[in-house]
Amino acid sequence: MCELSVIEQGAMLITGERISQVGSLAEIDSLIGADCEVIDAGGRVVLPGFVDAHTHPVFAGTRAGEFEERASGATYQEIAARGGGIQSTVRSTRRATLDELVAAGRRYANWFLRTGTTTVEAKSGYGLTVEDELKILRAIKVLDSQTALTYIPTFLGAHDIPSEYKSRRDDYVSLLVEEMLPQVAAEKLAEYCDVFCEEKVFTRDESRRILLAARSLGLGLRMHADQLSFSGGAKLAAELGTVTADHLEHTNAEGIAALRSAQVQPVLLPGSVYALGSSRYPAAREMIDAGLAVVLATDFNPGSSPTPAMTIVLSLASTQMKMTPAESITAATINPAYSLNRGRQIGSIEPGKLADFVIHDCEDYRELSYFFGIEHPWKVYASGRQSQKPQVFN
Ligand code: NIG
Ligand code: FE
Repeated sequence: MCELSVIEQGAMLITGERISQVGSLAEIDSLIGADCEVIDAGGRVVLPGFVDAHTHPVFAGTRAGEFEERASGATYQEIAARGGGIQSTVRSTRRATLDELVAAGRRYANWFLRTGTTTVEAKSGYGLTVEDELKILRAIKVLDSQTALTYIPTFLGAHDIPSEYKSRRDDYVSLLVEEMLPQVAAEKLAEYCDVFCEEKVFTRDESRRILLAARSLGLGLRMHADQLSFSGGAKLAAELGTVTADHLEHTNAEGIAALRSAQVQPVLLPGSVYALGSSRYPAAREMIDAGLAVVLATDFNPGSSPTPAMTIVLSLASTQMKMTPAESITAATINPAYSLNRGRQIGSIEPGKLADFVIHDCEDYRELSYFFGIEHPWKVYASGRQSQKPQVFN
């Protein structure tokens, strides 16, 4: 993870939407034909577009009021227990039309792109009825086709037990397994299924039932595990051989060893730890030292992590989790690409891959996490086309 294969004075040739050659400027220079458009990066850092492998980008409304309440001392769990939190976003998302969700989502798509992200994994989970979950997944499909950002959809109907099912939770699990999942699979609306396995949300047994049903329908598996408490989520992820186990703030050494032997990729979300005002960051160092292909993601959502900016996550990874800038970049590009089954298409600058890349306005990649709170991208390209105008000039 600490080897970035930096090419000094590098250049690349792009044909259509793909990279065709990568090398030193001296090597590429002779290939520049009269019909080529030359983009001079001016000695700036060129990186693959970030691949954000855990986001919740389709929802209505915000939770700025809860943010203020937390600043005054209330906890995320207290707010959830009185019907706020995820349930509050579910109420507003149910009221929204498909077009309204797409309009809100377009705004966030721009935020992702301008902060250097070209692919997001996108979860549903604020509908929690057949109709509303499908509405969110359809909005994700529209956003994928209408914006320069690529969306990889994940069904997260198991994000919470909706209030109308609180006294009959088994019925909601049956609805997920017998109705929602088959429809999602039949309409090919998701590649992955995720479950929020957590005390007071979905138990390990419920999570297992949902994930096994998803697997039998051909979906890949991801999991919210051990986020707010130790629920044995990492062990369940290892038992099922999910592709990823996400969060892992409370995972112990045994859980890390289980992930290692089952080759489950950890997806770490320090933005949510930060935004919840917690200091309990996941044990990234232990995971990397155990040989796990760690992924960093934003967890962009209206409650626990309202940031789309991977560079903020890179900063937190170095300051709070002791990952080096090089490890963080690997965890934000090629590792997440593999976790999304896109390792051969995106996540690095290599011939044959999609020309998803960002010219950052700095000359040293370590500045991306060192100078934090500013937007580094100078130009952003998705599939060979510039999606963002220059923002900053030196
Ligand atoms: O990943 N953990 C569950 N889901 C989100 C929170 C969603 C919300 O608060 O709206 C998360 O942190
Ligand atoms: Fe999440």
